[in-house]
Amino acid sequence: MSDSQVIFEKSVKGRKGASLPNSDVPQVKLSDSISPDLLRAKPANLPEVSEPQVVRHYVNLSVKNHHVDRDFYPLGSCTMKYNPKINDALASLPGFTNIHPNQPTEKVQGALHIIYELEHMLLKITGMSDATLQPSAGSQGEFAGILIMKKFHEKNGDKRKYIIIPETAHGTNPASVTLGGFEPREVKSDKRGRVDIDDLNSKLDREVAGMMLTQPNTLGLFEDHIDEISNAVHEVGGLMYMDGANLNAVVGLCKPADMGFDIIHINLHKTFSTPHGGGGPGSGPIAVMKRLSPFLPVPRLSKNKEGEYCWESDYPDTIGRLHSYYGNFGIIVRAFVYIRMLGDKGLKTMTRNAIINANYLKHCLKDVYDIPFSEGTLHEFVASGIKQKDKGVKVLDIAKALLDYGFHAPTIYFPNNVPEAMMIEPTESETRETMDRFVEAMLEINEKINTDPDLIRQAPVNTPVSRLDETKANRELDLRWKP
Ligand SMILES: Cc1ncc(COP(=O)(O)O)c(C=O)c1O
Repeated sequence: MSDSQVIFEKSVKGRKGASLPNSDVPQVKLSDSISPDLLRAKPANLPEVSEPQVVRHYVNLSVKNHHVDRDFYPLGSCTMKYNPKINDALASLPGFTNIHPNQPTEKVQGALHIIYELEHMLLKITGMSDATLQPSAGSQGEFAGILIMKKFHEKNGDKRKYIIIPETAHGTNPASVTLGGFEPREVKSDKRGRVDIDDLNSKLDREVAGMMLTQPNTLGLFEDHIDEISNAVHEVGGLMYMDGANLNAVVGLCKPADMGFDIIHINLHKTFSTPHGGGGPGSGPIAVMKRLSPFLPVPRLSKNKEGEYCWESDYPDTIGRLHSYYGNFGIIVRAFVYIRMLGDKGLKTMTRNAIINANYLKHCLKDVYDIPFSEGTLHEFVASGIKQKDKGVKVLDIAKALLDYGFHAPTIYFPNNVPEAMMIEPTESETRETMDRFVEAMLEINEKINTDPDLIRQAPVNTPVSRLDETKANRELDLRWKP
């Protein structure tokens, strides 16, 4: 039996995975209590397999693809850190999994306590005044932040049209700006990979609603002119939005509020350790400075006179609801556990180790791969495969070759201002030995490019499937197995 079969193909008629005792209560005819047109016409086509077959099938499936529990996953901008198992264990407690958002608030005070506490932990980390954990992704947090900017200006009777974003911005930034009814105005990077201040100044006027800035930016560099940037944007009446998806580089070391930001979103599913990748689930809380609190989405959690938690929706200037209920609760519990486990000191160590690890890797790779913007690397850096491309090997080939060494590839071809970009983010979870294995692989790949580049161009050869036609896979998405 080939390992590439789906579980339905392993099915043998009559085989069972479980045996149940005979029923000792009279059988009820379903059509007596359920309308016959709601009943299935014929039994569901379920695979008939034994218990060991099921276990082996899913264990084998779980290692066919790469994940952070298998090995190093330096996917830049995604902060693929190890997710401690205790997060999952606690988030899976029946007291958390068996509750429903429609239950009366007095029955779920414990859950509301966690939401309240996490909100306050994030306020302490960011220095902001109020927060909501409602957005279900970083990008939804961005969208909420843009709507807040819009309401703020409307309330002041101010017509604003543009939001400034740097050329290195994550793709979700211009998308949120456009979706929120503004036009992005792009600002260039300077020679050091930071916002070009002259270009920024030339683009600031009273039509600018604000600036959306990733700090540290997507090159992994701290925007060290942040005071000047914030002051210039505020001077024309604009607001500063921090894309805080890279918060793993600053937690415990500095606060977004002190840098002049008015709004921030935080990706709990990156910085605060939840499985990320494969499309979800996520959580992108936003936090704001006091003057923007009235615009936060509803419902908002508060405490009544008796000290009980309750939901409040009576905020006339709110941007409204982002979706039904309130955020991804499981992710909220995981982030709460993670922050409580680490504490102030642990969070600071986490950040420092993420920075040290990125700088260590950069140092080990710098003689072989080009690193164009290298001064002041924080939690990630962008290397370029430009020298390797001159020898006929693209960065896509290098990424594929890494799979043969058992590593996930870095993010490639982003950001756009670095040719043949490889964005490498080791995170704090990795040991020096793991990073050394990665360096060895990267150096060996470079050696092979010099001696036998075809080996790299054909990679991967040791994975369950070899090189895919990615264009076809994206254009003709067909994920359903048909018998
Ligand atoms: C810099 C940056 N901004 C925004 C986002 C969007 O976050 P999400 O994928 O949760 O929508 C990401 C995603 O990782 C990111 O790296």
